[in-house]
Amino acid sequence: MKALVLEKFGDPSVMKVTERPEPRPGEGELRVRVRAAALNPVDWKIREGWLKEAFPHEFPITLGWDCAGVVDEIGEGVSGFQVGDEVMAYGRKEVIRDGTLAEWIVLEPRHVAKKPPELSFETAAAVPLAGLTAWQALFDAGGLAAGQTVLVHAAAGGVGHFAVQLAKAAGAAVIGTASPGNHDFLRSLGVDHPVDYASADLADEVRDLSGGGADLVFDCIGGEALAASADFLASGGRIISIVDSAQVETLLANGVAAGWIFVEPNSDQLARLARKAVSGEMKVEIAEAFDLEDFRDAFAKLEAGHTRGKLVVRMG
Ligand SMILES: NC(=O)c1ccc[n+]([C@@H]2O[C@H](COP(=O)([O-])OP(=O)(O)OC[C@H]3O[C@@H](n4cnc5c(N)ncnc54)[C@H](OP(=O)(O)O)[C@@H]3O)[C@@H](O)[C@H]2O)c1
Repeated sequence: MKALVLEKFGDPSVMKVTERPEPRPGEGELRVRVRAAALNPVDWKIREGWLKEAFPHEFPITLGWDCAGVVDEIGEGVSGFQVGDEVMAYGRKEVIRDGTLAEWIVLEPRHVAKKPPELSFETAAAVPLAGLTAWQALFDAGGLAAGQTVLVHAAAGGVGHFAVQLAKAAGAAVIGTASPGNHDFLRSLGVDHPVDYASADLADEVRDLSGGGADLVFDCIGGEALAASADFLASGGRIISIVDSAQVETLLANGVAAGWIFVEPNSDQLARLARKAVSGEMKVEIAEAFDLEDFRDAFAKLEAGHTRGKLVVRMG
């Protein structure tokens, strides 16, 4: 089968589309014929070797953690799925090796939810990793409740654009950071107050807009933006980052309530996100869809760091 593969860590030149053996499902696994996969910044971070201490890996590595496709083979002991089911999945495994940028992937049911027929494969592939991250950061780690104010850093990106909509639907007031060219987009998602992350008065603006400070800061950018967030946190507020665990440690050492999470597979949450996408409560913005052969253009766009919504790769 065709797959986007690395045989060593490095810059974009180490990626190639090549033939890999077709996987077969073992006990407790199902095989998905991938129809679309989404890209996430973690794909280039894996390629660069940034996660090599965090997760075991084996070369050759097939990139990609998100997909939508059709179940075409089922191993012993799997219930709840049948051959022919259309599914969507966040397919991160214990060992980084077999990814979703391939014609087939073998997964466990915990990675997978049924794809509603109303969602295209491309739209469904865009949801899992970024949607689950937003959900787990806002609600599981952040404890966001109706009536609170959340600030989302990088609100126009893959994770951010889901987060602002989930927060709004949960009854929160939402402040989102983006460059000015994305402010109308943020408003269209329901963001109450788009703010420019380059503003010199960001902390004052956020304190004013939130009536004293944000109850939750959801950080999708790290670095200075995360460090400065303590300046506009409400009393009793908390910061959740998905990017910068080192800065979180510094905040904690300074007495700020902060935490860092890494997204986990969760098929129940994924099914709920899929329903929200169908109902329109959570719009799925696809910035661009690429064919697998055009992966270099797709990764160049991903790595530029200014994607509005999600980038998707069609797998035929
Ligand atoms: N820990 C986890 O489980 C987890 C899960 C998912 C993602 N992540 C990480 O979280 C980060 C965000 O992921 P993503 O998929 O949302 O990325 P993404 O889609 O590539 O984010 C792109 C967005 O970032 C915005 N941006 C760029 N510079 C910014 C700045 N200085 N301040 C605020 N916004 C800025 C851009 O807005 P403009 O175009 O307006 O500049 C763009 O909309 C990545 O580092 C990713 O690796 C971690």
